[in-house]
Amino acid sequence: MRRRKFLTLEGVEGCGKSTQARLLFNYLRRKGYKCVLTREPGGTHLGEAIRKVLLDPSNRGMSAACETLLFEASRAALVEKVILPALSKGYVVISDRFSDATHVYQCFAGNQDLKKFRVIDKYATRGVKPDLTIVLDIETKKGLRRAKKADSRKRKLFKWDRMERKSLAYHKAVRKGYLKLARQEKGRVKVIKTQPDIADTQILIRREALRIL
Ligand SMILES: Nc1ncnc2c1ncn2[C@@H]1O[C@H](COP(=O)(O)OP(=O)(O)OP(=O)(O)O)[C@@H](O)[C@H]1O
Ligand SMILES: [Mg+2]
Repeated sequence: MRRRKFLTLEGVEGCGKSTQARLLFNYLRRKGYKCVLTREPGGTHLGEAIRKVLLDPSNRGMSAACETLLFEASRAALVEKVILPALSKGYVVISDRFSDATHVYQCFAGNQDLKKFRVIDKYATRGVKPDLTIVLDIETKKGLRRAKKADSRKRKLFKWDRMERKSLAYHKAVRKGYLKLARQEKGRVKVIKTQPDIADTQILIRREALRIL
Protein backbone atom coordinates (compact mmCIF):
# COMPACT_ATOMS: atom_id res chain seq x y z
CA MET A 1 0.00 0.00 0.00
CA ARG A 2 1.22 3.48 -0.83
CA ARG A 3 2.22 5.39 2.26
CA ARG A 4 0.45 8.66 2.70
CA LYS A 5 2.85 11.54 2.85
CA PHE A 6 1.33 14.85 1.86
CA LEU A 7 0.29 17.00 4.83
CA THR A 8 -1.17 20.50 4.76
CA LEU A 9 -1.92 23.11 7.39
CA GLU A 10 -4.84 25.46 6.97
CA GLY A 11 -6.76 28.07 8.91
CA VAL A 12 -7.47 31.77 9.19
CA GLU A 13 -4.77 34.45 9.26
CA GLY A 14 -2.55 34.22 12.31
CA CYS A 15 -3.81 30.84 13.55
CA GLY A 16 -0.23 29.56 13.68
CA LYS A 17 0.16 27.58 10.45
CA SER A 18 3.71 28.70 9.68
CA THR A 19 4.88 28.27 13.28
CA GLN A 20 3.36 24.80 13.57
CA ALA A 21 4.45 23.67 10.08
CA ARG A 22 8.07 24.46 10.94
CA LEU A 23 7.87 22.67 14.29
CA LEU A 24 6.36 19.60 12.63
CA PHE A 25 8.99 19.67 9.89
CA ASN A 26 11.83 19.78 12.45
CA TYR A 27 10.20 17.05 14.54
CA LEU A 28 9.72 14.65 11.62
CA ARG A 29 13.27 15.22 10.45
CA ARG A 30 14.54 14.40 13.94
CA LYS A 31 12.49 11.20 13.75
CA GLY A 32 14.37 10.30 10.57
CA TYR A 33 11.79 11.18 7.93
CA LYS A 34 12.97 12.81 4.72
CA CYS A 35 10.88 15.98 4.70
CA VAL A 36 10.13 19.01 2.59
CA LEU A 37 8.48 22.13 4.00
CA THR A 38 6.83 24.50 1.59
CA ARG A 39 4.16 27.17 1.46
CA GLU A 40 1.43 28.71 -0.63
CA PRO A 41 1.23 30.98 -2.41
CA GLY A 42 4.93 30.62 -3.11
CA GLY A 43 7.33 27.75 -2.57
CA THR A 44 8.99 28.19 -5.98
CA HIS A 45 10.79 31.13 -7.57
CA LEU A 46 7.77 31.82 -9.75
CA GLY A 47 5.31 31.19 -6.92
CA GLU A 48 7.06 33.64 -4.60
CA ALA A 49 6.77 36.31 -7.33
CA ILE A 50 3.03 35.54 -7.58
CA ARG A 51 2.80 35.74 -3.77
CA LYS A 52 4.07 39.30 -3.85
CA VAL A 53 1.41 40.25 -6.39
CA LEU A 54 -1.35 38.58 -4.35
CA LEU A 55 -0.36 40.13 -1.04
CA ASP A 56 0.54 43.61 -2.30
CA PRO A 57 -2.11 46.00 -0.92
CA SER A 58 -1.60 48.32 -3.90
CA ASN A 59 -3.31 45.68 -6.07
CA ARG A 60 -6.65 46.64 -4.58
CA GLY A 61 -9.74 45.86 -6.61
CA MET A 62 -8.29 42.60 -7.93
CA SER A 63 -11.18 40.55 -9.31
CA ALA A 64 -12.09 37.23 -7.72
CA ALA A 65 -11.31 35.41 -10.97
CA CYS A 66 -7.91 37.01 -11.21
CA GLU A 67 -7.18 36.23 -7.56
CA THR A 68 -8.24 32.58 -7.94
CA LEU A 69 -6.18 32.07 -11.08
CA LEU A 70 -3.07 33.60 -9.52
CA PHE A 71 -3.36 31.25 -6.54
CA GLU A 72 -3.83 28.32 -8.92
CA ALA A 73 -0.87 29.41 -11.07
CA SER A 74 1.38 29.43 -8.00
CA ARG A 75 -0.05 26.03 -7.03
CA ALA A 76 0.61 24.55 -10.48
CA ALA A 77 4.28 25.56 -10.23
CA LEU A 78 4.53 24.16 -6.69
CA VAL A 79 3.02 20.81 -7.63
CA GLU A 80 5.21 20.46 -10.69
CA LYS A 81 8.52 21.68 -9.24
CA VAL A 82 8.33 20.68 -5.58
CA ILE A 83 5.48 18.43 -4.47
CA LEU A 84 5.44 15.74 -7.16
CA PRO A 85 9.24 15.36 -7.36
CA ALA A 86 9.48 15.16 -3.55
CA LEU A 87 6.66 12.63 -3.18
CA SER A 88 8.15 10.47 -5.91
CA LYS A 89 11.45 10.39 -3.96
CA GLY A 90 9.66 9.28 -0.82
CA TYR A 91 9.73 12.60 1.03
CA VAL A 92 7.05 13.71 3.43
CA VAL A 93 5.73 17.01 2.08
CA ILE A 94 4.34 19.59 4.50
CA SER A 95 2.65 22.58 2.93
CA ASP A 96 1.56 25.73 4.72
CA ARG A 97 -1.77 26.05 2.82
CA PHE A 98 -2.90 24.30 -0.39
CA SER A 99 -6.08 23.82 -2.46
CA ASP A 100 -8.40 23.98 0.54
CA ALA A 101 -7.42 27.62 1.00
CA THR A 102 -8.83 28.49 -2.44
CA HIS A 103 -11.88 26.36 -1.80
CA VAL A 104 -12.57 28.19 1.45
CA TYR A 105 -11.38 31.76 0.76
CA GLN A 106 -12.47 32.21 -2.86
CA CYS A 107 -15.50 29.89 -2.92
CA PHE A 108 -16.99 29.75 0.58
CA ALA A 109 -16.08 33.30 1.64
CA GLY A 110 -15.72 34.89 -1.82
CA ASN A 111 -18.77 33.21 -3.42
CA GLN A 112 -16.89 31.90 -6.42
CA ASP A 113 -18.35 28.99 -8.32
CA LEU A 114 -17.34 25.68 -6.72
CA LYS A 115 -17.61 23.66 -9.94
CA LYS A 116 -15.26 25.99 -11.78
CA PHE A 117 -12.84 25.90 -8.85
CA ARG A 118 -12.80 22.10 -8.91
CA VAL A 119 -11.98 21.99 -12.62
CA ILE A 120 -9.26 24.65 -12.41
CA ASP A 121 -7.79 23.19 -9.24
CA LYS A 122 -7.58 19.71 -10.71
CA TYR A 123 -5.82 21.15 -13.73
CA ALA A 124 -3.31 22.97 -11.51
CA THR A 125 -2.68 20.12 -9.06
CA ARG A 126 -2.89 17.26 -11.58
CA GLY A 127 -5.18 15.64 -9.06
CA VAL A 128 -2.71 15.72 -6.16
CA LYS A 129 -4.61 15.89 -2.87
CA PRO A 130 -3.30 16.06 0.68
CA ASP A 131 -3.48 12.84 2.68
CA LEU A 132 -4.00 14.83 5.85
CA THR A 133 -5.09 18.42 6.35
CA ILE A 134 -4.95 20.08 9.74
CA VAL A 135 -7.20 23.06 10.23
CA LEU A 136 -5.94 25.16 13.11
CA ASP A 137 -9.03 26.72 14.57
CA ILE A 138 -8.80 30.02 16.40
CA GLU A 139 -11.24 32.83 17.09
CA THR A 140 -11.05 34.96 13.93
CA LYS A 141 -10.31 38.28 15.61
CA LYS A 142 -7.62 36.75 17.78
CA GLY A 143 -5.91 35.29 14.71
CA LEU A 144 -6.03 38.57 12.84
CA ARG A 145 -4.58 40.38 15.86
CA ARG A 146 -1.69 37.91 15.98
CA ALA A 147 -1.09 38.18 12.24
CA LYS A 148 -0.98 41.96 12.52
CA LYS A 149 1.45 41.82 15.44
CA ALA A 150 3.65 39.33 13.56
CA ASP A 151 3.65 41.62 10.52
CA SER A 152 5.14 44.50 12.43
CA ARG A 153 7.55 42.34 14.40
CA LYS A 154 8.93 40.31 11.50
CA ARG A 155 8.93 43.28 9.12
CA LYS A 156 7.14 41.19 6.54
CA LEU A 157 7.02 42.41 2.95
CA PHE A 158 3.69 44.16 3.44
CA LYS A 159 2.32 45.58 6.61
CA TRP A 160 -1.23 44.18 6.90
CA ASP A 161 -1.24 42.48 3.48
CA ARG A 162 -4.00 42.51 0.82
CA MET A 163 -5.62 39.30 2.12
CA GLU A 164 -5.43 40.38 5.76
CA ARG A 165 -7.15 43.66 4.83
CA LYS A 166 -10.34 41.93 3.72
CA SER A 167 -13.28 42.51 6.05
CA LEU A 168 -13.78 40.79 9.39
CA ALA A 169 -16.99 39.27 7.94
CA TYR A 170 -14.90 37.73 5.15
CA HIS A 171 -12.42 36.21 7.60
CA LYS A 172 -15.26 34.92 9.77
CA ALA A 173 -16.70 33.24 6.67
CA VAL A 174 -13.27 31.71 6.06
CA ARG A 175 -13.24 30.21 9.54
CA LYS A 176 -16.76 28.85 9.07
CA GLY A 177 -15.77 27.52 5.65
CA TYR A 178 -12.87 25.51 7.06
CA LEU A 179 -15.13 23.98 9.72
CA LYS A 180 -17.68 23.09 7.05
CA LEU A 181 -15.00 21.50 4.90
CA ALA A 182 -13.86 19.42 7.88
CA ARG A 183 -17.42 18.15 8.34
CA GLN A 184 -17.61 17.27 4.63
CA GLU A 185 -14.25 15.49 4.52
CA LYS A 186 -13.98 13.94 7.96
CA GLY A 187 -11.38 11.37 6.95
CA ARG A 188 -8.86 13.84 5.58
CA VAL A 189 -9.50 17.14 7.34
CA LYS A 190 -8.92 17.34 11.09
CA VAL A 191 -9.72 20.40 13.17
CA ILE A 192 -7.34 21.21 15.99
CA LYS A 193 -8.20 24.01 18.36
CA THR A 194 -5.15 26.19 18.89
CA GLN A 195 -4.01 25.88 22.48
CA PRO A 196 -2.71 28.82 24.49
CA ASP A 197 0.70 27.17 24.41
CA ILE A 198 2.39 26.63 21.02
CA ALA A 199 3.96 23.34 22.22
CA ASP A 200 0.58 21.94 23.28
CA THR A 201 -0.88 22.61 19.83
CA GLN A 202 2.15 20.92 18.29
CA ILE A 203 1.58 17.76 20.32
CA LEU A 204 -1.94 17.45 18.91
CA ILE A 205 -0.65 18.01 15.37
CA ARG A 206 2.10 15.39 15.74
CA ARG A 207 -0.43 12.85 16.92
CA GLU A 208 -2.48 13.29 13.73
CA ALA A 209 0.60 13.32 11.49
CA LEU A 210 2.06 10.12 12.95
CA ARG A 211 -1.27 8.39 12.47
CA ILE A 212 -0.88 8.56 8.70
CA LEU A 213 2.89 8.19 8.29
N1 LIG B 1 -0.38 29.45 20.66
C1 LIG B 1 0.12 30.66 20.42
N2 LIG B 1 0.13 31.60 21.38
C2 LIG B 1 0.61 32.82 21.18
N3 LIG B 1 1.12 33.23 20.00
C3 LIG B 1 1.16 32.35 19.01
C4 LIG B 1 0.65 31.02 19.14
N4 LIG B 1 0.82 30.38 17.97
C5 LIG B 1 1.38 31.27 17.13
N5 LIG B 1 1.61 32.44 17.75
C6 LIG B 1 2.17 33.66 17.18
O1 LIG B 1 1.18 34.23 16.37
C7 LIG B 1 1.77 34.80 15.19
C8 LIG B 1 1.12 34.19 13.97
O2 LIG B 1 1.56 32.84 13.84
P1 LIG B 1 1.92 32.26 12.41
O3 LIG B 1 2.68 33.26 11.62
O4 LIG B 1 2.51 30.92 12.61
O5 LIG B 1 0.45 32.12 11.83
P2 LIG B 1 0.01 31.88 10.35
O6 LIG B 1 -1.25 31.08 10.45
O7 LIG B 1 1.12 31.32 9.58
O8 LIG B 1 -0.32 33.34 9.91
P3 LIG B 1 -0.49 33.91 8.41
O9 LIG B 1 -1.85 33.50 7.99
O10 LIG B 1 -0.36 35.39 8.64
O11 LIG B 1 0.62 33.32 7.62
C9 LIG B 1 3.26 34.54 15.26
O12 LIG B 1 3.88 35.68 15.75
C10 LIG B 1 3.35 33.38 16.27
O13 LIG B 1 4.57 33.40 16.96
MG1 LIG C 1 1.99 32.02 7.84
